[in-house]
Formats: sequence, structure tokens, C-alpha cells
Amino acid sequence: MYDFDKVIPRDNTACVKYDLREAYFNKSDVLPMWVADMDFATPEFIREAVIQRANHPIYGYSFRADEYYHSIIEWLKNRWSWNIEKDWILYSPGIVPGINFAVQSFTQPGDGIIVQPPVYFPFFDAVKSNGRRLVRNLLVNNNGRYEFDYDDLERAAKESAMILLSSPHNPVGRCWTRNELAKLGDICRKHGVIIISDEIHGDLIMPGYKHIPLASIAPEIADVTVTCVAPSKTFNLAGLATSSMIISNEELRGRFKKLLDELHISGGNLFGAVASQAGYEHGGTWLDELMQYVRNNYDFLESSLKRDFTTIEPVILEATYLAWLDFRKTGMKDKVIKDTLIQKCGLGFSHGPVFGEGGGGFQRINLAAPRVKIEEAVDRLKAVFD
Ligand SMILES: Cc1ncc(COP(=O)(O)O)c(C=O)c1O
Repeated sequence: MYDFDKVIPRDNTACVKYDLREAYFNKSDVLPMWVADMDFATPEFIREAVIQRANHPIYGYSFRADEYYHSIIEWLKNRWSWNIEKDWILYSPGIVPGINFAVQSFTQPGDGIIVQPPVYFPFFDAVKSNGRRLVRNLLVNNNGRYEFDYDDLERAAKESAMILLSSPHNPVGRCWTRNELAKLGDICRKHGVIIISDEIHGDLIMPGYKHIPLASIAPEIADVTVTCVAPSKTFNLAGLATSSMIISNEELRGRFKKLLDELHISGGNLFGAVASQAGYEHGGTWLDELMQYVRNNYDFLESSLKRDFTTIEPVILEATYLAWLDFRKTGMKDKVIKDTLIQKCGLGFSHGPVFGEGGGGFQRINLAAPRVKIEEAVDRLKAVFD
């Protein structure tokens, strides 16, 4: 029903992915496959809702109406099999700000906070820039499938107040299973560790997999969990600054809300609320088609790499539109991989080492783009790495 093949020029729209190439890569014509937004149009039913609201000429102070909350509740019930209540939903302009608010609300300077590298790098900043202590619990790469290291997590939990969990995981593409999450949740609960479960990619699940919201597993786990959800990745709305922190524990929620109130932040973005509601109300079919398209892009990439390359291997993609590529067999140093990709291939990937320990030798590629761009990327890789 929907056209994901259409190439839409994004240059000169003040867009990070295209218009900041010179600043980021020192080369303005790389094929940009880095920042995690999509080169697909936001679906028409969202654009229509925004345009309709924009046609009313006054954009004054607004609030999020009941229908806005209802759309989130219904979406999470239908797509994630998770029942939540309106009162549990708190606004945050973004997930990264929300994670920082959580760090400030629930921990003290010097407290240990666990991160699980290789992981989305703003997690490290949220710990360090708030003067908290980084406690690493590295993921284990088991023949291309990443897993939690529970023994080490037990060690880390003893010296920590909080964990920042990426679920599904960016960049390693895991859609954690119920058992894996339950085990992680139990360890954290036992040691009084508050879990910030960043589920921003929770809608971007490959056919055949199911996202399990951590807080849906057991009430005892929900009690120590803050769940981050947003329509921003799902419907390509990152520029509209609208997301939610879902907290069922009343005491934790009160502490989080106090900070939001002090910062006067909960007014939010009028158009973000409109877009979010339209997406959650009408976006199911569009999202299913999107994920099938991304799956096909991944299958194309995987089969090309397996057929034509001996040195670049993809890690299995269970969720997100971000594929994690293993360049270690090239035997090249990270800086050389990076320079080669940029200078010789003209490709703008996300550099593995920025995701922390375990990121060396890897690159992340964004597959949320029309197929011709993925084909172009493979051709450019082939010309140099074949
Ligand atoms: C795991 C994860 N969390 C958060 C974000 C960004 O969230 P926001 O733009 O809402 O701050 C991203 C974006 O790539 C992400 O991958």
C-alpha cells in the first residue's frame, strides 16, 4: 500500500543526516547512513493531521488531551500486549532528555550506573555529565549473537543504583526474549537497582520476533522500572520532540514529575502531540509494511555480503533498522576502516568505537532508506572491500 522506494531529497532542510555531513565526516557528499532517522516520508495520515492543525492560525500554549493518552494506551495494548494507565505516562521532549531526568531524579552524584556496551553512546554521557559513576556490564558476542553476562551483571548491580537498558538493543539489533529480560529484571530488583528501559525501538521489530516490554513481565519488575517509549523512531518524527516515560510506581513517578515541574517542561510540542496521536491511531499497517521493507533491505545486504565479500559480516538483525557490521576480518585498524569508508567508499556509517567497549572493528549502517540507496552502499563497499 505504501511506497518506500521513493527517493526524497533531504538536502537543505536543516536535517542532521544530510546537511551536517561536512561537519561530521569532513566530506559533504558521503552517502549518509548514520543518524537514526529514516529517509522515508512520514506517513500521510500523520502529515494530514499536522497540516489540519497548522491550518488553525494560532499555535499558543497547549496540553495533551485525553485522546492523546488514549492512543498511547491502545497502541501499547495492541502492539506490545501491555496494559498501562493514563496516570503512568509522563511527557519528555525526547528519550535522551528523559534518561537524564531519570538519572537526576533517582540517583546521587557518585552513584554507580550500569551500561551495557557496545551501546547507544548518549547513555555514557547521561552517566558522566551528571557526575555519576560508569559501571560497565559488557554484552557477550556469542558467534554474532549478543547476550547479557548475568554473572558480571550481578557484580555490577551490587555497586550500582541504576541500569540503562537498551531494549531492543541499539546497535547490536537484539530483541531480548522474555527469559533474558526476566533474569535481568530479577537481578536488578534483588539489588535495588532502578531500571531505565529505553524501548524507543520497541515498535521496530523484524517479522517473526516480538518485543516484550520489561515492565510487563512481573509487577515486582514494573515497580523498579521506568519505560521510555516514543513515536519518533516508529513514524520518523524525531524533529517533533514528543515522547513518554511510563512509570507505574507512584513514588518514583512523583520524584520524576517533581523535576519536570521544576523545569517547566511538560507543556510539550503542539504538533508533536498531534502527530503522535495520528501515528498511534492509524499507523499499524504502515508500520508492518515498513518493517517488511527494512527486512528486505537487510536480507539484500546480508546475501550480498555473504556472496561477494569475505571480510564484512552482518550481525543478525532482530529489531531496529540499524545493522551492525563486523569488519574485524579485514584486519584493519578502526581509524583505517573509518577513513576508507569515508574517503574511498564515500559512505557515512556510524563508527563502532563510539558505542564503547566491543565497538572496535564494527560499523553501524542505517537501513531505513529506499532500496536503491542500500544497493549503492553495497556497490561502493564492493569496489573497495571486495
Ligand atoms: C536507544 C536510543 N535511545 C534514544 C534515542 C534518541 O532519543 P531522542 O531523540 O528521543 O532523545 C535513540 C536514537 O537513535 C536511540 O537509538
